[in-house]
Amino acid sequence: MPPPDPTSEPLPLRSPTLTLRGIDVFFGEKQALDSVDLDLYPREILALVGENAAGKSVLAKVLTGLCRPSAGTITVDGAQVTIGSPTAAHRLGIATVFQDLALADNLDVTGNIFFGRELHTSGVMRRGHMEAIAREKLTEIGAKIPSVRAPVVTLSGGQRQSVAIARAMLGDPRIIILDEPTAALSATQTAEVLDVIERLRDLGRSIVFISHDLDDVRAIADRVVVLRHGRVNGSAPVSGVTYEAIVAAITGITDALPGTGRGAVPRVVNG
Ligand SMILES: Nc1ncnc2c1ncn2[C@@H]1O[C@H](COP(=O)(O)OP(=O)(O)OP(=O)(O)O)[C@@H](O)[C@H]1O
Ligand SMILES: [Mg+2]
Repeated sequence: MPPPDPTSEPLPLRSPTLTLRGIDVFFGEKQALDSVDLDLYPREILALVGENAAGKSVLAKVLTGLCRPSAGTITVDGAQVTIGSPTAAHRLGIATVFQDLALADNLDVTGNIFFGRELHTSGVMRRGHMEAIAREKLTEIGAKIPSVRAPVVTLSGGQRQSVAIARAMLGDPRIIILDEPTAALSATQTAEVLDVIERLRDLGRSIVFISHDLDDVRAIADRVVVLRHGRVNGSAPVSGVTYEAIVAAITGITDALPGTGRGAVPRVVNG
């Protein structure tokens, strides 16, 4: 009999890949994150939602080593870690695609995927090898890109997002944080990007999907966590909550999502 596949277990029976407990972040007097708890499981898409300034991007920065919490613990695969820099995040297998994508318009797809990590032999750039790997990464994530030699400036918003995701996949991360990957995309481009994100999950990755679009969240996420004023204001399996319940937790009409089972984290709203 083959050994059981741990990723086929229902989510509650698996150990989290990533755990945050009691994370506080201050910018001067302003508290951007307030005692944030979060669990991210293998092979899941965790949607992180909330109003503008709720703390979503700050949380992404904490996980990327760009923002140091003043309190709390971070655990990756059961071991407590400090994410002191983007290099440390990379070493821990955490990759982030930020809202601005940071692509170089004047470079082609391959140039962007390898930007700052170009491959050389005896000082000569291994362009053909890089193109082959770029093609492989794009195929792996199911991205629809006409050519790895296409200048990025000629691509659609959805294709640019796919290039940024392929770039993040270059280091073979286990945890991928996507900050509003479908913002400002057309319906067709959004569908393409959502397919790519689902492909990342199929590849066994754990994904934090930051979004304002609850249709996108309900289309692909396994669980949803709501941030409000820097605090977790509810967490629930997507299949167990209504659209209205998520909106209510985002806007603070209710003090928590009526989620069921593990992952439901009732919290009192602060203002
Ligand atoms: N570098 C910084 N210095 C000072 N305050 C900051 C800094 N970065 C974020 N903040 C503040 O922290 C809070 C959370 O910001 P964050 O960018 O995480 O919001 P968000 O949930 O990502 O919002 P949006 O949906 O608009 O992207 C905001 O009040 C913001 O002004
Ligand atoms: Mg943001």
